[in-house]
Amino acid sequence: MNATSTRTRQWLVNPADALAGEISVPGDKSISHRALMFGGIADGLTRIAGFLESEDCRATLAALQSLGVLIERSSDGEVRVHGAGPEGLRAAAGPLDMGNAGTAMRLFMGLLAGRRFDSTLVGDASLTRRPMERVAAPLRRMGARIETRDGRPPVVVRAADTLRAIDFEMPVASAQVKSAVLLAALQARGTSRVVEPAVTRDHTERMLRAFGVAVGRDGAGVTLAGGQALRGTRVDVPGDFSSAAFFLVAGAIASGDGLTLRGVGMNPTRTGLLQILSAMGADIHVQPVAAAGEEPRADLRVRPSALRGITVPPHLVPLSIDELPVMFIAAACAEGVTDLSGAEELRVKESDRLAVMAAGLAALGVRHELKPDGMRIWGRPRTDGPAFQGGRVDSHGDHRIAMSFAVASLRAAGPLAVLDTANVATSFPPFVALARAVGMDLEETDADVPGA
Ligand code: S3P
Repeated sequence: MNATSTRTRQWLVNPADALAGEISVPGDKSISHRALMFGGIADGLTRIAGFLESEDCRATLAALQSLGVLIERSSDGEVRVHGAGPEGLRAAAGPLDMGNAGTAMRLFMGLLAGRRFDSTLVGDASLTRRPMERVAAPLRRMGARIETRDGRPPVVVRAADTLRAIDFEMPVASAQVKSAVLLAALQARGTSRVVEPAVTRDHTERMLRAFGVAVGRDGAGVTLAGGQALRGTRVDVPGDFSSAAFFLVAGAIASGDGLTLRGVGMNPTRTGLLQILSAMGADIHVQPVAAAGEEPRADLRVRPSALRGITVPPHLVPLSIDELPVMFIAAACAEGVTDLSGAEELRVKESDRLAVMAAGLAALGVRHELKPDGMRIWGRPRTDGPAFQGGRVDSHGDHRIAMSFAVASLRAAGPLAVLDTANVATSFPPFVALARAVGMDLEETDADVPGA
């Protein structure tokens, strides 16, 4: 390593002929973050089974420990959070490092908004570019004192008096904004109401109910009365649909016997990709399985499929927001044109996912048109030969983009190099092992990236 290069990870992926096998993907990231945070402010013990051991969730865990919450791991992998109670968090000795995790930073802003102490939230280079005013602005209306640097991290959450309830119409469809406001609403006097412009993931509402909090519905609004205490509970985290998504697309575009994915979370506010892939003609069988908690789950069976391009229905965009990069890979393998609009939020994720995916598709010879809020992709079905040329794509440190291009290798004419893949550990540490287990030819190496 020297001043103009950095040590990073890269993947070399050779086109594999066929996939087959049965896997379980790791626990859901959104649910794991929330289980830790809600457990941290609950009264009593919260036991989390199926917790996602990833860098993002470890950032949340470490931050809670810094705020005085006792957290233990049992030998069987269960995480035990000894709740500090509604007033029990204490000032951390230094800044709280959220790493790459937007969910952690935004939800902590709400969780810390009405405390009697100051907190500073920092993150990595990617997180430091992401917008935080969408959370800071409604929290300030509630009486929180929050400072951002030009709207981005670091974020300072100052000590505040008791917060005021808010009636808030969210300008963007964001579960993180909704969740941050609901966490602040717990600390507020009066009943708050949050209205979302389109349905977004509802893990916060479901899990708050499991912790004994009354969460109401009022038309398009979620209502919550302040001052309610959380009671520690048991959380059973299902497999992450967003991680399963890579294997759903892989199983549909490859040849072979297909794949079985066990115990995948099937919350309908997360499974938009299933509807999109079904409309594209994917052969996916959903077998519901008994769920211990409030989050449904299923075993999924996907078989090689002849995909067709579609116009993605706008209401499915927030319900598939994290899966759209891998949906582009499916589109590149489909007959005809796939057209996505209304997805400008992709520009403010871990990377600008529209620009970075477009650059990767261009590098692999896929005809596409980048739009301000989406993409049009002209696909090549199996009968027309490979959908991608071999080549090099830069994931820009975005975990989901790295995994999406690994999946593209299944229909590539030659080897792919996927650069800057270390951040896959933020959401899906065993991705490489599972990809290999079902037949992908993927080798992981250290690489020197000049000027990175
Ligand atoms: C998340 C919400 C979504 C999603 C993110 C996780 C959550 O973000 O993209 O990966 O856990 O609430 P937005 O709220 O910004 O849409």
